[in-house]
Amino acid sequence: MSSSGANCEDAPKSDLNMSPDKKRIAVVPGDGIGPEVIAQAVRVLERVSETHGATLELVHFDWGADKFLREGVSLPAGALEMLLTEFNAILAGAFGDPRIPANQHAEEILLGMRRGLDLYINLRPVRLLDQRLTPLRNATVEDIDFVVFRENTEGAYCGAGGFLKKGTAEEIATQEELNTRRGVERIIVAAFEYARANGRKRVTMADKSNVQRFGGDLWQRVFKEVAADYAEIEANHQYVDAMAMFMVLDPAQYDVIVSNNLFGDILTDLGAAIQGGLGLAASGNIHPGRVSLFEPVHGSAPPLAGTGKANPVGAILTSAMMLEYLGYKKASEAIENAVSEAISNDEMTRDLGGSLSTEQVGTAICSRIMGQ
Ligand code: NAD
Ligand code: IPM
Ligand code: MN
Repeated sequence: MSSSGANCEDAPKSDLNMSPDKKRIAVVPGDGIGPEVIAQAVRVLERVSETHGATLELVHFDWGADKFLREGVSLPAGALEMLLTEFNAILAGAFGDPRIPANQHAEEILLGMRRGLDLYINLRPVRLLDQRLTPLRNATVEDIDFVVFRENTEGAYCGAGGFLKKGTAEEIATQEELNTRRGVERIIVAAFEYARANGRKRVTMADKSNVQRFGGDLWQRVFKEVAADYAEIEANHQYVDAMAMFMVLDPAQYDVIVSNNLFGDILTDLGAAIQGGLGLAASGNIHPGRVSLFEPVHGSAPPLAGTGKANPVGAILTSAMMLEYLGYKKASEAIENAVSEAISNDEMTRDLGGSLSTEQVGTAICSRIMGQ
């Protein structure tokens, strides 16, 4: 495995064609605890490249709050084209900094990559690795094991809206939500395809179609049409408010959940909580067959930055998801097994009741990854 730092302009040109087995990964640690947790994910990637022969080239990018404050640059010009043509995957930390009002840089970098690379699937697994971790009384590891397909390019995240009479007592702010037939269909199809390929029995769609009469109606119609092509999979529907309740009371009923961008965002923080906390949750922003972006679900957690308390497991499991996407299935499983073993042996940060630092957890997980 090789590693280097680069700006967009001077990133080394791709040798993908010359060496098809080598995967190029853009590493963007970002803000707050992002660099700390990504440093541990990178150590784990280095470890599996030794033990499992995953051939990776990592190129680091310093996109984030410091660069934005220093140079006024968030996502550099040409970055999307470079990522599309020269990289197989992106591994990101988190973006968000209290010094930047409204986190303009985070929107431009993170939502810029999601939308600009058309990463329409936000895949967020919710899996309880150890019964001790869930705050739900009596829930077992069998009960909490589902995946969320969050639409990732439109909905309430489309940025449409505006102000009238801003700053006056008569001010009006509009915030629109965009639902395209194509966007809705492709995320629902992705959820059913995943269910079929992974032996999952049920897809549950969450919406608020009892109130959102137009967008909700489109989601309802498309869901029924798509479900008809997957007769062996149960198609189920819940209003999102009820789903939030059932995720706590009866998470065992879920196999695959599909929802829009905003509901998917909210439900997956809840999903993270029932599997032990935000520090554990992994995600992939995926456009099948294209460069895709992998990042922990959590944010930059400013109060934790620099304290050594951040849990690196979300970032480490994210790197496992990335390896699976890149075709390194055995290496990915080795990481997941090492994480489970580390947790069983109390090698955990304080958010999980352990006493190890971010780096010590990284070391513990690395030392549990053995050769094939
Ligand atoms: P957050 O995820 O940063 O933190 C929420 C809570 O979870 C905090 O109590 C935090 O200490 C805890 N937590 C998060 N990650 C943890 C970890 N790895 N280990 C232990 N505890 C952890 O969410 P927030 O406080 O709402 O947002 C902070 C900033 O991050 C904001 O600027 C927000 O916009 C941004 N954010 C970015 C992303 C992203 O880049 N993908 C995601 C969410 C939030
Ligand atoms: C997430 C985050 C982002 C989102 C923010 C930081 C824009 O909460 O990845 O879940 O809302 O998608
Ligand atoms: Mn979120």
